[in-house]
Amino acid sequence: MSDITLITRDGAKLSLAASPQETVLEAAEAAGLFLPAMCHEGSCGLCSAQIATGDYTMRGGPREPAADGSVPLCLCLPQSALTVNLPYPESGISHHRIPTRAATVTSITPAGSGAVTLSLTLQPDPEFGTAADFTPGQFMEVSIPGTEITRAYSLSNLPNWDGTLEFLIRLQPGGAFSTWLAQTAKPGDALTLRGPAGRFVLDEISPRPRCLVGGGCGFAPLLSMLRHLADFQNMQPTHLIFGANTEAELAVAAPLKALAAQLPNLTICYAVWHPQAAWHGFTGTAADALAQYLATATDLPDVYLCGPPRLVEAVTNVAQARGIPPARIYTEQVQLR
Ligand SMILES: Cc1cc2nc3c(=O)[nH]c(=O)nc-3n(C[C@H](O)[C@H](O)[C@H](O)COP(=O)(O)OP(=O)(O)OC[C@H]3O[C@@H](n4cnc5c(N)ncnc54)[C@H](O)[C@@H]3O)c2cc1C
Ligand code: FES
Repeated sequence: MSDITLITRDGAKLSLAASPQETVLEAAEAAGLFLPAMCHEGSCGLCSAQIATGDYTMRGGPREPAADGSVPLCLCLPQSALTVNLPYPESGISHHRIPTRAATVTSITPAGSGAVTLSLTLQPDPEFGTAADFTPGQFMEVSIPGTEITRAYSLSNLPNWDGTLEFLIRLQPGGAFSTWLAQTAKPGDALTLRGPAGRFVLDEISPRPRCLVGGGCGFAPLLSMLRHLADFQNMQPTHLIFGANTEAELAVAAPLKALAAQLPNLTICYAVWHPQAAWHGFTGTAADALAQYLATATDLPDVYLCGPPRLVEAVTNVAQARGIPPARIYTEQVQLR
C-alpha cells in the first residue's frame, strides 16, 4: 500500500492508502472521500489534479500530464507515496457518491433574450431527503425524459431545504435539450438529474478582492455565488463583469439589481461588444473590460470566470498578462459528452 496525501486549495491535508492496482480516485472513494469526478475514464477532466511528489503510472497506458501538470486521478495508479495538490477547497470533497435524483418541473419562465429559467423540485429521497444541497458554482447533469441524453446546467439559486433547483438556460436553436425545453416540457413533467458536481466554487478564505466574469448563460453559476455572498452579507470587494454581444442580452442580468442593493461592495460593469449608438456603458468584450479594470487595480483580485470557451481563453490571457497566477483564475474545465 502507498500513503497518499491530498492537499486541498485551502490547505486541508487528507491521508489515505492505495494499492498499486487502485487509482487515487478509487482509493479516496474507498476511504469515503468523493472527489469531483464524472466519467471515471479520463475524458471529462473533472478529477484532474497535480501530483506534487511521488511516482505513478496511468491505467490504460502512459499519458502526458496537461499543460498545468495535472493528471486525471481516475487513471492515476500510485507506485510510491504521493502528495496530490487538489485545485479546489475541502468543501469540494463530498462524503457521498454523486447522487442521482428524481425531480419534477415546477416552472419554465422566459428570462429574456432567448433564455429561460427552469425551476425544478426534487422528489424526497430516502438518503438525501428533500434538500437541494450543493455549493454555489456547481452544476447538475439533467436527462431529457424518455431518452439517454443528458446535458450539464449550472445551478443559479442557493442550496435550500425545500428541494428547489433553478437553472438559467439559453435555448440553442436545434439543440436537443433546448428543443425539449421550448416545445415539450411543462410543469409536472418528471426527470432525473445527477449531481451536484463540479469544482467551480468560491475560495471563501481568500483575503483578496474577487472579480467575477461571465457571458451568456455563464452568468448562472456567478449568480448563485453572488446570492451566496449576499446571504452571508460578505463585505469583500467584488467586481462583476457581465459580457454581452448586444444590450438585449443584458435582460438575463435582471436579478443583479436586488443583489447590488444587498452587497454594498459589489461593483458591476456591463460590457457590450456591439451596442446601439445610445449605449453609454462600456463598449467592448468582457476581456477588454477586465483589462481596463486590472489596469488600475492596486490589489489584484481572484478571478472567477464562466462562459463560452473563447471568452474563457481571452479573459484568462488578460488576467495572466497582468500577473494573476493560474491558481487564482477559477473556471469549470469540464468536457462532458
Ligand atoms: C459544466 C457545464 C455547465 C453548463 N451550464 C450551462 C448553463 O448554466 N446554462 C446554459 O444555457 N448552458 C449551460 N451549459 C451548456 C449545456 O450543457 C448545453 O451544452 C447547451 O444547453 C446546449 O444543449 P442542447 O442539448 O440544447 O444542444 P445540443 O444538442 O448539444 O446542440 C448544441 C448546438 O449544436 C447544434 N447542433 C447539434 N447537433 C448538430 C449537428 N449534428 N450539426 C450541426 N449542429 C448541430 C445545435 O443546433 C445547437 O445549436 C453548461 C455546460 C457545461 C459543460
Ligand atoms: S472523472 Fe476523471 S477525467 Fe472524468
